[in-house]
Amino acid sequence: MYFIANWKMYGDLKSLNSLNKVIKFTNTNKRKKIKLIYCPPYTLLQAFYKKIKKTRIFLGAQNCHYEISSGPFTGSISPQMLKRIGSSYVIIGHSENRSEGETDSQINKKIKSCIESGLKVIFCIGESSLQRGKKLTQKVLKKQILKGLLKVRFSNNILLAYEPIWSIGTGNVPKNYELNKNINFIKQILKNKHKMKNPKVLYGGSVNPKNVKNLASIEGIDGFLVGGASQNAKNFIDIVKKTII
Ligand code: 13P
Repeated sequence: MYFIANWKMYGDLKSLNSLNKVIKFTNTNKRKKIKLIYCPPYTLLQAFYKKIKKTRIFLGAQNCHYEISSGPFTGSISPQMLKRIGSSYVIIGHSENRSEGETDSQINKKIKSCIESGLKVIFCIGESSLQRGKKLTQKVLKKQILKGLLKVRFSNNILLAYEPIWSIGTGNVPKNYELNKNINFIKQILKNKHKMKNPKVLYGGSVNPKNVKNLASIEGIDGFLVGGASQNAKNFIDIVKKTII
């Protein structure tokens, strides 16, 4: 099971102290099949890496530019820059970036550059409440996957994160049958169109220590992408514990 902490635009150097508890937890649960990945803001990546490099926690970034190495792109960070400072993962296509104008074609270019740089991609997809209301969810998901992964090779370096936009930060989560149906649908596309043998699909959207046990019981879910609840070490550890114990 994957547990990915997306800190979004939160956190400063002091927040790194909260990692101590999480490191201790991973050290005492060595035999459990869990993978913890932290995606702090860019400003904390280097400090995070120093702290976690000898632990069982992995580092990820929250986005990057599609230019693989460097170039005249003010304010941007390239996949190679992320790789060089110790990131193993990067979130691409988060709805909070899509809503600011990030297109499927940019997402596709970013995914290709990240994979070429040796980063693993956490590729986010998800429908809006309006699309869900119009029963367009699967059509939207399929389009996002096909466009995002167009001509992408080595797709085994990609984790899909299904994050319905209406569930992010709202406290609302899909019903079990709905989530199960959509996760299976995503896996089928990944198997049929992208020849992934064992695709991994995570769920994200208002995951917390109270609802995670039920969510984890849904067949097909390979982990969670956690926003708000991941900023508190106790909550994040509780999410892991409730899933695996
Ligand atoms: P919340 O867990 O705060 O709903 O955020 C989910 C998310 O966007 C993770 O990427």
